[in-house]
Amino acid sequence: MNTEPNPPEKISRSSLLRNWTSLLGLIIVLASLFSFFLLFLLDSLAHFANPYVGVLTYLVAPAFLGVGLALFILGVLLRRWKIARSVGVAPALQIDLSRPRDRRILGVFLGVAVLFLLFTAMGSYHTYHFTESVEFCGQACHTVMQPELVTYRHSPHARVSCTECHIGPGATWYVRSKLSGTYQVYATVRDKFPRPIPTPIKNLRPAQETCEQCHWPKKFVGNLDRTYAYFLSDETNTLHEIRLLLKVGGGDPTHGPEGGIHWHMNVRNKVEYFAIDAGRQQIPWVRLTDHQGVVTEFRSPGFTNKVDKSDIRVMDCMDCHNRPAHMFEPPNSAVDLAMKLDQIDPALPFIKTNAVFTLTQCYTNETEARQRIATHLANAYTDTPRLRKTIQTVQQIYRDNFFPEMKANWRVYPDNIGHKDWPGCFRCHDGKHTSADGKNMIKANDCNACHLILAQGNGAQIEKLNPAGLKFEHPGEDYDKEFLCNDCHTGGP
Ligand code: HEC
Ligand code: HEC
Ligand code: HEC
Ligand code: HEC
Ligand code: HEC
Ligand code: HEC
Repeated sequence: MNTEPNPPEKISRSSLLRNWTSLLGLIIVLASLFSFFLLFLLDSLAHFANPYVGVLTYLVAPAFLGVGLALFILGVLLRRWKIARSVGVAPALQIDLSRPRDRRILGVFLGVAVLFLLFTAMGSYHTYHFTESVEFCGQACHTVMQPELVTYRHSPHARVSCTECHIGPGATWYVRSKLSGTYQVYATVRDKFPRPIPTPIKNLRPAQETCEQCHWPKKFVGNLDRTYAYFLSDETNTLHEIRLLLKVGGGDPTHGPEGGIHWHMNVRNKVEYFAIDAGRQQIPWVRLTDHQGVVTEFRSPGFTNKVDKSDIRVMDCMDCHNRPAHMFEPPNSAVDLAMKLDQIDPALPFIKTNAVFTLTQCYTNETEARQRIATHLANAYTDTPRLRKTIQTVQQIYRDNFFPEMKANWRVYPDNIGHKDWPGCFRCHDGKHTSADGKNMIKANDCNACHLILAQGNGAQIEKLNPAGLKFEHPGEDYDKEFLCNDCHTGGP
């Protein structure tokens, strides 16, 4: 008599599947596949541009699929282990192709596997694209990225996707950014992110690999002619215009004379610097290596420290163009522009002062700001259609440039391109940096080194151009030339 109650080959393989864990796994797999296809269909047919549909389709559904599959396999393994313990022998898992049933099972299995791989490939491709999209970067974490998204939409780069500047081409930076991104998602969910988001971004990919993919650094720009319009804070909001010829030039002698502002682009010369503060606004040490290899160090008076190699940064595009996509307009310039465009009525007495004043009050959110701006201006002037337009414009300036929830506005995001409201160029060209043998850099008060003033003033004055450049006439009163512009000008009232 056979004493063995259950010969091992008689334990059917399907009995392995009969356990609760695997069943649960199977249900999750089926449910997530079903939702994936439904969402995928919705996403591709309806074109929502809704980031949440994307998050669900390409991140949440596949995650559930993975969990389901893992549970399924875990259930099978557990079951097998249990049987093995009670019976002493684990059920055989070999496949015998001579049996028609096994052939059928294998056929079905292979079919399903191919289908699954196909959909996974398609899914990963879409997931990749989705995580690279402006919707994902800008909208999925709504409050956090709101300031950068709004300012980006008003920038000259509104059609360049976030990732082209922040990640760039290639797999390494993609993986790096996804790794740090995972922490960022966690920080967002746990509400642990800093407000405002600090700038500059540490470990941003070098400009050579991002900006220079589109902007050929060898391009010779030459001179750019720009007119700046200002309204003074007097009763009549006196208009004062300045027309500048910016000597942008170029940095590569094969495409035009090397020199001007773009001389710094490191094509032939290299500029390095050390900043004391995290925001890179105080620069006491600059090192120049020119195209003949001659090295010159410039220091601020009193700065004698040795500079650690790891603290040295090579100057690139973003040291000047740090706000190519996220410009938080200072209220002073935003109001000037709107007045020039007649969206804020320049005929209203003291409107320049009043508009800048209301913009710079402390508001807890956008709704409060909108109401208080309206009340303040409505109380100051008589109600006309022009006033209503003015109020709307001021509210719009607030919406586009102030983000109280994130504490983001022009105060915390300096723009390094000029020198009026922030130190900018004068971080190095303040006139005080000297080399050991007494050489100076281009000085702040050498106004014609970087641009020529072609015309300045009001009305007919601005029509008369002087190609040799005019001496700067400061609007308002004259001032002590010991001061730099941003000692007084802050962009605010
Ligand atoms: C034209 C290139 C460009 C594009 C496009 C771009 N950025 Fe930026 N972004 C920058 C630069 C440059 C900085 C400043 C980096 C620095 O100073 O280190 C920056 C800074 C930031 C910061 C840090 C806070 C700040 O304002 O300095 C965040 C957050 C950010 N970008 C998010 C985004 C998002 C979201 C998008 C897409 C909606 C986007 N960026 C598109 C170039 C770009
Ligand atoms: C994917 C391509 C692309 C990338 C990457 C890119 N830009 Fe641009 N940039 C453009 C386009 C397009 C324009 C607008 C049209 C033009 O001026 O030709 C522009 C315009 C500009 C302008 C002129 C803006 C103005 O006010 O007229 C500057 C300055 C600039 N980019 C700097 C940068 C910097 C700095 C970076 C890197 C952080 C960068 N760009 C990255 C495509 C790009
Ligand atoms: C020393 C500061 C500085 C550096 C470094 C610098 N730029 Fe500029 N760039 C300027 C200034 C100033 C202008 C004039 C226009 C303006 O103010 O936006 C300008 C203008 C531009 C323009 C607009 C040209 C046009 O025809 O309208 C582009 C594009 C540009 N820069 C790209 C770059 C790129 C790319 C790099 C890096 C390879 C770079 N810049 C490095 C200061 C700089
Ligand atoms: C990190 C320091 C640094 C910053 C910031 C900086 N520069 Fe310079 N710049 C230098 C150095 C170093 C030189 C070479 C010494 C000199 O001629 O002053 C130089 C030279 C120049 C020159 C003469 C180029 C030539 O033809 O020889 C111009 C013009 C100039 N800078 C304009 C600017 C403008 C405009 C800005 C702001 C948008 C700016 N710089 C910001 C470091 C800097
Ligand atoms: C190191 C180069 C450099 C020097 C020196 C310099 N500037 Fe400028 N300045 C610039 C650049 C670059 C801009 C353009 C900023 C921008 O893109 O709008 C500018 C812009 C300006 C503007 C328009 C500012 C605005 O943002 O509304 C005025 C006015 C001006 N400069 C006056 C002067 C005067 C006056 C002096 C001499 C005391 C001077 N600059 C010296 C580089 C320089
Ligand atoms: C000692 C303080 C002080 C310094 C330094 C100073 N300004 Fe002014 N600036 C003023 C005052 C005050 C006004 C008048 C403001 C008004 O009526 O709106 C003014 C007005 C202006 C205006 C027109 C109105 C506006 O608000 O933009 C411009 C442009 C200007 N200054 C440019 C410059 C430049 C460029 C420099 C550096 C080369 C400079 N200022 C240095 C105090 C100063």
